[in-house]
Amino acid sequence: MRCRRLSVRATATPSAEKVKGKIQRINANRYVDPKSKLEWSHDGKRMVLKETEQQKINPIEKMKLRKDPLQMLEWIEEMAKQDFETLDASGKEAQEDIDMRLKWLGLFHRRKQHYGHFMSRLKVPNGILTSAQMRVLAKAVASYGSQGCGDLTTRQNIQVRGLKLSQAPELLRGLAQCGLTSLQSGMDNVRNAVGSPLAGIDPLEVYDTRQLCIDLTNYITMDQQGNPRVTNLPRKWNVCVVGSHDLYEHPHINDLAYWPAEKNGKFGFNLLVGGYFSATKCEEAIELDAWVSEEEAVEACDAVLTTFRDLGARSSRQKCRMMWLIHDLGLERFRQEVEQRMPGKSLERAGTSLIDASHTRRNYHGVCPQKQAGLNYVGLNVPTGRIQASDMFEIARLAEEYGCGEIRITVEQNYILPGIPDERVESLLQEPVLTTGEGFASPFIPFPGNLMKNLVACTGNQFCGLAMIETKAQGKALTEALEATMDIPADVRMHWTGCPNTCGQVQVADIGFLGCKTTDQSTGKKVEGVKIFLGGKIGHDSVLGTEIAELPCQHLLPYLQQLLEENFNAVRKGSLSEKDKQAVERWEQFPFNSGGTPSVFPPNENGKYVTVPS
Ligand code: HEM
Ligand code: SF4
Repeated sequence: MRCRRLSVRATATPSAEKVKGKIQRINANRYVDPKSKLEWSHDGKRMVLKETEQQKINPIEKMKLRKDPLQMLEWIEEMAKQDFETLDASGKEAQEDIDMRLKWLGLFHRRKQHYGHFMSRLKVPNGILTSAQMRVLAKAVASYGSQGCGDLTTRQNIQVRGLKLSQAPELLRGLAQCGLTSLQSGMDNVRNAVGSPLAGIDPLEVYDTRQLCIDLTNYITMDQQGNPRVTNLPRKWNVCVVGSHDLYEHPHINDLAYWPAEKNGKFGFNLLVGGYFSATKCEEAIELDAWVSEEEAVEACDAVLTTFRDLGARSSRQKCRMMWLIHDLGLERFRQEVEQRMPGKSLERAGTSLIDASHTRRNYHGVCPQKQAGLNYVGLNVPTGRIQASDMFEIARLAEEYGCGEIRITVEQNYILPGIPDERVESLLQEPVLTTGEGFASPFIPFPGNLMKNLVACTGNQFCGLAMIETKAQGKALTEALEATMDIPADVRMHWTGCPNTCGQVQVADIGFLGCKTTDQSTGKKVEGVKIFLGGKIGHDSVLGTEIAELPCQHLLPYLQQLLEENFNAVRKGSLSEKDKQAVERWEQFPFNSGGTPSVFPPNENGKYVTVPS
């Protein structure tokens, strides 16, 4: 993509009222292209597959046809009053409701590991929360007792864990009251809108992504009411808005990315489309050769999304992501379909990129000056994104007492606290949760090691039924052992993922760990292992990493030490401190092959590894 550093800025951000009216108009539009596989149902409440399109569809499509999942909104109160086991035993429809349709409300039943307990996935536009919102979540997690915990996710999002169905209506009400929602966050829905974690505070900002992420979320969920226009998609769909030269948002792995660009002296966005990962295939987003102004941004989202909704494949689930449609139609035909869904049925060709491709990605950890004089943001490492009620309350307090009452989440599963005045920085850095972690499960260090700061891990087998290994505790323990034994001169991004679905995105990591079952050559036994990926790059020269080895988890330490020496200029430490030795010991005593239950990373003891009773 060509780039010119221009002084063009988004100066005339559309007013909130104007955008609200526009979103209402988009969502009130009932016109559906005649080529679409979908039509409005007779009662006009949902979009259904036309009868002629109901052949050779996948089981999820059949499930959606049997009953519209968004209807769970009307029934959740009633369901929650029933005895869970009786409801679950009452038939196939009830089981489908519990395990699948409730995902349209953001409720994920953890049948395999935590029967009767749910995870709730929110939407946190641009990853920005207020301290009041964080407290609502902390209270909820606290009320779930020993089952309760939360996770920061790689879409700047939060998942809270441990609620029973009987507690769901209260959570949904609590979210609505504080301006959050969990609607349309799972299955064939649009995922959390990602933006720059430094939006509005970045001295090098190109675009303040906050309002557009909120507008996109409001359009997608119809102001948190549930939006039947976009809840019957062929598959999930990801969107992000790029705000800085750093590409913190990972635009290349989104189905739609807004890329700041100028045309005829006007600010707007080039559109990138079709990026995705799956168990069998990963593809980077490509340029649509289209430019939209800031005012047209939400309409452009609707145009791309409804093209996908109307024409996307609904056969094999492996082939339903939007890039398959782009390949099927050809990029130019796809573009024409998007164009004719735009207001005025016109779409400009790409403009000049405002993103500097020669820029080196900045580190956001520690204390960094904001564009507002005298204010700073402080990046905190949250190892593998695991959070607990006590530290959620604490981070809310810190945001209020030291900052502007805001907490931000990054796609590396870390926090940023913005708005810290110069004179308050030192005392913030002395707070226990940022230093010793005393009183909390784990400290959130502002100056973490070069491995820990970018460590990412998907949920793993503690909570995810698809996982083949434990990811979070294991990733943290290995990272601590490596940092204890090696001097690592620069950042190395390590990602763990529990199965080939690769929610932890191993392919974009410098070093990726993908869970598998493997044979331990020394014993001949099948054990938990990982496939190791090397060489993934993010940012302007993004490349997907490739698989280089497969080995049992318990043999990882020496292998990784050598890998870091050979590829990342790491050097083994001459002598180890007591603390270093303890980190190695913790790794050596790690309960490998525990199967994840009982947990090796207990919800309320983050960071403490317990031996699993046999
Ligand atoms: C068929 C493929 C996939 C399946 C079945 C799947 C399943 C899941 C499940 C069950 C969870 C929740 C686990 C938990 O926390 O309890 C999850 C979370 C997540 N997955 Fe996947 N996944 C798939 C593919 C992907 C891909 C390709 C990506 C992106 C690279 C991805 C990104 C995420 C993210 C970011 C989360 C955390 C929640 C969020 O912020 O949206 N997943 N996935
Ligand atoms: S990668 Fe696999 S194990 Fe990890 S959260 Fe996704 S589905 Fe679960």
